[in-house]
Amino acid sequence: MKHDTVLITGASSGLGRSLALTLARPGRMLHLGGRNETRLLETARACISRGAGVRIRLCDVTDQSGMEEWIQTLGPLDLVLACAGITGGTRKPTKPDSAPYEPDEQIRRFFATNLDGVLNTVLPALNVMQHQPRGADGMRGRICAISSVAGLVSYPGTPSYGAAKAAVDRFMVATGGNMRQAGILLSSVVCGFLNTPMTARNRFPMPGLTDVENASRRILRGLRRNERRIVFPLWLAAGSRFMDLLPIRLAEAYYIRQPTGSAGSMPEPDLS
Ligand SMILES: NC(=O)c1ccc[n+]([C@@H]2O[C@H](COP(=O)([O-])OP(=O)(O)OC[C@H]3O[C@@H](n4cnc5c(N)ncnc54)[C@H](OP(=O)(O)O)[C@@H]3O)[C@@H](O)[C@H]2O)c1
Repeated sequence: MKHDTVLITGASSGLGRSLALTLARPGRMLHLGGRNETRLLETARACISRGAGVRIRLCDVTDQSGMEEWIQTLGPLDLVLACAGITGGTRKPTKPDSAPYEPDEQIRRFFATNLDGVLNTVLPALNVMQHQPRGADGMRGRICAISSVAGLVSYPGTPSYGAAKAAVDRFMVATGGNMRQAGILLSSVVCGFLNTPMTARNRFPMPGLTDVENASRRILRGLRRNERRIVFPLWLAAGSRFMDLLPIRLAEAYYIRQPTGSAGSMPEPDLS
């Protein structure tokens, strides 16, 4: 797989940072995006110390024109990894007769970051890659977005997170079927819990929790093999697919008993 020039969003933390470090080596140029300058610079320094060339970009993935301006002015791109994302769940009812809820601001932010933010990364990258020559393996480039096992189920604890991740997965896999002809791989990562800062505040058991470095290696192996959907742990994804086939009331009766199924169990996201 040719990946001399790589662009990563969400490179200041967690999976994006781990992918950047795993890829960092002499002869490779990494374009790293994130909002937090201090943490992004930390990733950049660690990648440079491994011999990679690095350019950082302070950017918010919800800024469509800013993302286009960044991605479309870099020249050829071999690999783009859309990792930026945020999570959170439903809150407890505020009055005795009301229901668990997600604040409107949270719902809109999750869709803006986890869905529009992915499109703001993937669409300009597709524009760039369609105009670059094919490599020795017949590929023009590879684009990968991080979805989630949460996107496989209608989980009452994380409705808007799951919905945005489901949309990302469907878009990447379905559009990828068309883009194959153009020599561009579109890939979706359907993963379970990873041990990153995103989950560090969780105070509940996380079945199948995967070490982020193992996750990075699994993702890169899948991309080398041109996998359009990279899934791990398989048992968790298979169980989730099965649950989604059940009548919703039956599935909900199970979900609601899970640690993350009830309102107020997920840490509140930083929406500042
Ligand atoms: N951790 C898990 O268990 C898990 C499971 C399944 C899927 N995922 C997905 O994997 C991806 C990476 O998550 P993670 O676990 O690595 O989380 P993380 O450690 O919290 O990192 C999230 C990254 O996203 C960036 N980000 C968030 N909002 C952004 C915005 N508006 N513009 C630009 N960058 C933004 C953050 O950068 P700044 O702070 O610099 O803005 C940070 O680098 C996410 O898409 C997440 O949904 C995670």
